[in-house]
Amino acid sequence: MLKGKKLAVIGTGKLGEALISGLLKNGVLQKEDICGTVARESSIKRAQEKLAIQITLDNKACVRDKDIIILAVKPQNMDKVLKELAETITEKQLVISVAASVTTAFVQERLKGKVAVVRAMPNTPSVIRAGMSGLCGGAHSTQNDLAMAEAIFKCVGETVFVEEHLMDAVTALSASGPAYLYVVIESLAEAGVKLGIPRETSTLLAAQTMYGAARMVLESKAHPALLKDTVTTPAGCTIDGLMELEEGKLRVTLIKAVVKAAERAKELVHR
Ligand SMILES: NC(=O)c1ccc[n+]([C@@H]2O[C@H](COP(=O)([O-])OP(=O)(O)OC[C@H]3O[C@@H](n4cnc5c(N)ncnc54)[C@H](OP(=O)(O)O)[C@@H]3O)[C@@H](O)[C@H]2O)c1
Repeated sequence: MLKGKKLAVIGTGKLGEALISGLLKNGVLQKEDICGTVARESSIKRAQEKLAIQITLDNKACVRDKDIIILAVKPQNMDKVLKELAETITEKQLVISVAASVTTAFVQERLKGKVAVVRAMPNTPSVIRAGMSGLCGGAHSTQNDLAMAEAIFKCVGETVFVEEHLMDAVTALSASGPAYLYVVIESLAEAGVKLGIPRETSTLLAAQTMYGAARMVLESKAHPALLKDTVTTPAGCTIDGLMELEEGKLRVTLIKAVVKAAERAKELVHR
């Protein structure tokens, strides 16, 4: 699907680098087919050393003659970058924005003509190709555009398509989600320490347990509640632990955390 395509990444920071690495490691694109940009002269060396691709400060030169343009600058820099590139980007190119809270309409309105825009919301585990990305198309994107975007984000993990109005929910669930789960891992590890397990061992026990539980959900496709029941022996110790979680309102707290983060994402929205 992406064979022979040429890619520009405007903003080769943490996420831009992760995407380029994923594409190269999967052999989907070749180094000579990718150009990246950064804002500061000093960042060129860093990105070049990591990726060994062409890195420049010149956004316009970078996007010229490319098939796909990924905009991976911070949301607050999007307006400036889009204005700078408005005359250079054409309807023949696909624009993919990963900027949190920036709508496809915001991007489309700043470009000339009916440019195809896809919005993506990946998460930080994309760096180790265990990411989760939500994707949605804009007013002018075709099935082929969506398929090309999907192929890119598949290189760094799993993908789902959602309606654009759900992108704030995706942001709150899977993009903010790693932060919530790190707190869970940290807390479980603290519990191990409290019970006398060395911290390093305790953190491994907690993190590998979360990884295993997540894989069980994904691979068995069973409802998480059913999987929980298989661990919970009648009159055993797990039910006592679960009762403590119920008393501490873990479930409702997690639900409220995601709902609150989604409300905040809506407030930040660049329409
Ligand atoms: N990190 C994630 O996992 C993640 C997840 C979902 C969405 N996102 C979205 O991805 C975007 C980038 O996030 P990030 O974490 O990768 O940030 P980051 O590491 O700060 O990267 C931003 C990059 O943009 C470059 N830049 C800034 N202004 C520019 C300009 N005018 N022209 C060209 N390049 C410019 C910066 O250059 P310098 O290096 O020279 O400063 C930097 O390399 C954000 O919009 C964020 O919402 C990130």
